[in-house]
Amino acid sequence: MRRLVSETSLRAQQLVLPAFVADGIDEPRAISSLPGVSQHTVDSLRREAAAAAEAGLGGIMLFGVPRDEDKDATGSCGAAADGILNRALTAVRDEVGDDLLVMADTCLDEFTDHGHCGVLGTDARGEQVIDNDATLAAYGELAVAQAAAGAHVVSPSGMMDGQIGRIREALDSAGHHDVALLAYSAKYSSAFYGPFREAVGSSLRGDRRTYQQDPANARESLREVRLDLEEGADMVMVKPALSYLDILRQTAEVSDVPVAAYQVSGEYAMISAAVERGWIDHDPAVMESLTSIRRAGADIVLTYWALHAARLLADGWRV
Ligand code: PBG
Repeated sequence: MRRLVSETSLRAQQLVLPAFVADGIDEPRAISSLPGVSQHTVDSLRREAAAAAEAGLGGIMLFGVPRDEDKDATGSCGAAADGILNRALTAVRDEVGDDLLVMADTCLDEFTDHGHCGVLGTDARGEQVIDNDATLAAYGELAVAQAAAGAHVVSPSGMMDGQIGRIREALDSAGHHDVALLAYSAKYSSAFYGPFREAVGSSLRGDRRTYQQDPANARESLREVRLDLEEGADMVMVKPALSYLDILRQTAEVSDVPVAAYQVSGEYAMISAAVERGWIDHDPAVMESLTSIRRAGADIVLTYWALHAARLLADGWRV
């Protein structure tokens, strides 16, 4: 009876696995704040992607971790053809072909020596600020490089105004008409990104409150979603997931393209830490959290548990 009347489903094809690939390492390197998640070498990433395809996941989202000495003020190693992320995109696409969507994080923060998602400039008073429009040009180059490297989907996560329109234009002019755009539309300035910043060896000092969303605001996020839809987003995303299920629901109500939600590193870390202490049960907590994100309106869920959840589902776990 419960199966017959269940309102929410969870399937492997709806899940996307975020994965990190680091330059200059010979062995995968564990990330202490994300137990079970590693920085990959290009080779181990290939194997992870093959496993993701085999498990029937919808996609894999790649983040690059360059060597510190390759970072600079403009994040130039992001767009370099031999940059770590682009090499990884090519290797993974070569491995999985069209069996798994290969998605690229399209942002400068992993590649800049200051750790911000955009390039820096000064305002009229001489204060250091993020230069929104100069950043758009850099995003265009980054997206084209990622598409050329083999990404099916580019995923601008930097929350600059106008980034979707600008990247669409850049992709189209370079002939990448069928590369899709997954827009991080409502990305909040969140404490729950903490472990991710270790995962990518972020150089950030300070915060991203001048460009990411204020956790107090909902209407503002819906405006961001609308703008991204107008600019040509093929999918829109809300991030983080669990503290923002209301935003996810409202986004699902207005969006005429698929809606994604990102269960971020801090959400993963919280459940993992409680499990380590024996305070909650791992699998039920993971599957309940994923189900609630689907129930709130996500068509697509990015989660570090994507492979684990797909295996549970294949073994007959019922949601
Ligand atoms: C920024 C970016 C962030 C995450 C993915 N891309 C956050 C940030 O540092 O502001 C967070 C992902 C996570 O916490 O799992 N390009």
